[in-house]
Amino acid sequence: MHGASAETRWEALADAGYFVPNDRFFVRNHTATPVIDAAGWRLRVHGAGVREDCSFGYGEILEMPAVTVDAAIECAGNGRVLFGEQQGTPVPGVPWRLGGVGVARWRGVPLVEVLRRAGLSPEAVDVLPSGLDAPYVCEGIDYGRVRRPLPIAKACDDVLLAYEMNGEPLPPDHGFPVRLVVPSWVGVASIKWVGDIEVSAEPLFSPWNTRFYRMFGPDHPPGGGPPLTAQGVKSAFELPWDAVLPAHRTLVLRGRSWSGAGRVVRVEVSTDGGASWERARLRGPRPAAGWVRWRYTWRSPRPGAHTLLARAADETGGTQPGYMPFNVHGYMFGAVVSHPVRVVRA
Ligand code: MTE
Repeated sequence: MHGASAETRWEALADAGYFVPNDRFFVRNHTATPVIDAAGWRLRVHGAGVREDCSFGYGEILEMPAVTVDAAIECAGNGRVLFGEQQGTPVPGVPWRLGGVGVARWRGVPLVEVLRRAGLSPEAVDVLPSGLDAPYVCEGIDYGRVRRPLPIAKACDDVLLAYEMNGEPLPPDHGFPVRLVVPSWVGVASIKWVGDIEVSAEPLFSPWNTRFYRMFGPDHPPGGGPPLTAQGVKSAFELPWDAVLPAHRTLVLRGRSWSGAGRVVRVEVSTDGGASWERARLRGPRPAAGWVRWRYTWRSPRPGAHTLLARAADETGGTQPGYMPFNVHGYMFGAVVSHPVRVVRA
């Protein structure tokens, strides 16, 4: 647990299938999970970018044409603790190791469908969904409800208003009754417990695309980089941190790799701290916005401390660097992760 947030344990995925079961899916809350009665819930859609101010009930959303999307949600801060542990530059914030990510099968109605029903105008520029959780207050500053503008092009592309997760109604922690799922983008875009969507005819701003979820620091533009959108490339082993493994056996190491830019096409593993690399075997489905599972056979490891590494490449040529330049909020840690294990005589 990280306050009201909770991290998925990678070893808990070893016996899971392609999707992360709902009760093992990470939770990232700015405040606390609200209790919402679906019968009284309405989604209001308004602003200069739609013809009329209107609202939709839960039943109405359920009756619209539904689609299913297999997609990851990943917090921009996933891997944050590694800025400190691996690179010696600790940053404050939720101390995720690599468990701030999960893939689920989401079902719902395309956001564009709801926007069209509200009379989407060609003048529309930004779409601002707001959550019904309590306003976010930090260090005495009230930032208001969690909300983050999406450019109209992304909003009308592949964004879902989801009401089902892995075949069940959305669990309260994951946004019941309805949340956004914004495939491939930083998790904060996927607003949970959505109750209000403003569609504007001019650019919109909130603390979540100005103060937070941008890169600040010496290696970034003065005044900060652009609002974060697509995630980078990452890989993780389905092993505990400091896993204890038996010596002189044939071990099958399993893991998963993903990228916000497209399908992962290659994964390599090193069992000697990066001196040599070998291809892992990719297996199973590979949806564009999900992850790919892989396995690697480690033959007869010697007793002692070892460092396992996995690095992936995606279909756009994106890869994982050896080092991730520091940023003040610790976002987008995409460097190859040094995973410590201890091999002992069985
Ligand atoms: N939506 C609301 N309303 N409130 C929140 O605190 N957290 C965001 C996003 N949507 C958040 C939210 C962040 S930072 C992430 S990473 C994802 O939800 C996490 O989704 P999950 O808790 O279902 O894993």
